[in-house]
Amino acid sequence: MLILGIDTSCDDTSAAVIENGTTILSNSISNQSDIHKKYGGIVPELASRRHIEMIWPVVDEALKAAGLSCKDLACIAVCHGPGLIGSLLVGCSFAKALCYAKKIPLVAVNHLEGHIFSPFLEMTKPDYPFIALIVSGGHTCLYRVDDFGKYFELGRTRDDAAGEAYDKVSKLLGLGYPGGPVIDNLARDGNPEAINFPRAYLAESLDFSFSGLKTAVMHYVKSEMSPSNHPSPLRGEGKGEGEVSKLINDIAASFQAAVVDVLVRKTEWAIKQERIKRITLSGGVAANSALRQRMLKMAEEREGEVYMPSVSLCTDNAAMIAAAGYHHFKAGNIAGLDLNPVAYLPL
Ligand code: KG4
Ligand code: ZN
Repeated sequence: MLILGIDTSCDDTSAAVIENGTTILSNSISNQSDIHKKYGGIVPELASRRHIEMIWPVVDEALKAAGLSCKDLACIAVCHGPGLIGSLLVGCSFAKALCYAKKIPLVAVNHLEGHIFSPFLEMTKPDYPFIALIVSGGHTCLYRVDDFGKYFELGRTRDDAAGEAYDKVSKLLGLGYPGGPVIDNLARDGNPEAINFPRAYLAESLDFSFSGLKTAVMHYVKSEMSPSNHPSPLRGEGKGEGEVSKLINDIAASFQAAVVDVLVRKTEWAIKQERIKRITLSGGVAANSALRQRMLKMAEEREGEVYMPSVSLCTDNAAMIAAAGYHHFKAGNIAGLDLNPVAYLPL
């Protein structure tokens, strides 16, 4: 069964063809980072306009790379939320038009459901039930997944998402957008114990909070920049460029250590609470090298298993939308051509 997936929920225009829910035949992505970089974050209006320009070339490329045409498709699976409404509109309108013109069934997929199914695109797939940690630019949440369609939220962020914290700290340090990959890289050369940034455990709740951490980094940077009685490389009072980059690497490593500690500890609580030792890790922040390592270590200590997509399938992609779409199609969940995108769509 061949399914075309489409995702335009944020700043990536993406189309993919997958076979039988798990085998990727093509996965085309047009990334917009260059457009948004200079603003330090996504500008929704610019994102929508670029989606309009790129949607047809990206879909065409995905079909060609798979050696297929529309008549070969069982259905088209499109992400209809959550996300930026203008961006979602482009993917949904395009998918509906193509389904109407080519008489193909349409399937609607929740973006978070797509992230949950991204580990199923790898060789080794998790059995149900499992604990899913989704960490992205827009979401940080823990679910117990009992089966396709049976998702129980265990916790979610009360303020910023983990990826959002990465992006904001990166902007603060003048490191550009998206912040995650840059901070991940710089942290490799920094000392994670250099600065003791706060970890919000919120008693033993499985909810998350990252805005306090972001504020703590901001205060730290401000104090390093303002006149005080200790010399600071951020004020140009160190021994030159080497000192500045050492401090920035230490801030990156210490910030990352605080994020990873909380994500891993809460996942550990979740597997203990639910008595389930299978974990999936997905979403853009799941590409983080420290998080991947620490999650594997924690699972090993608890004799559990971690399933995570390869790094390129952690960030937004349409293959994961097609993977979840496969289950909807098999279950007969066909969407009408009056499908509308929803910015705040619960799972
Ligand atoms: O899943 P995604 O592509 O989009 C959303 O659904 O939000 O996630 C994007 C987020 C961004 O905030 C980006 O900074 C973060 O994922 N990210 C990372 C890494 N790569 C991407 N965060 C930490 N470490 C990384 N290596
Ligand atoms: Zn995403």
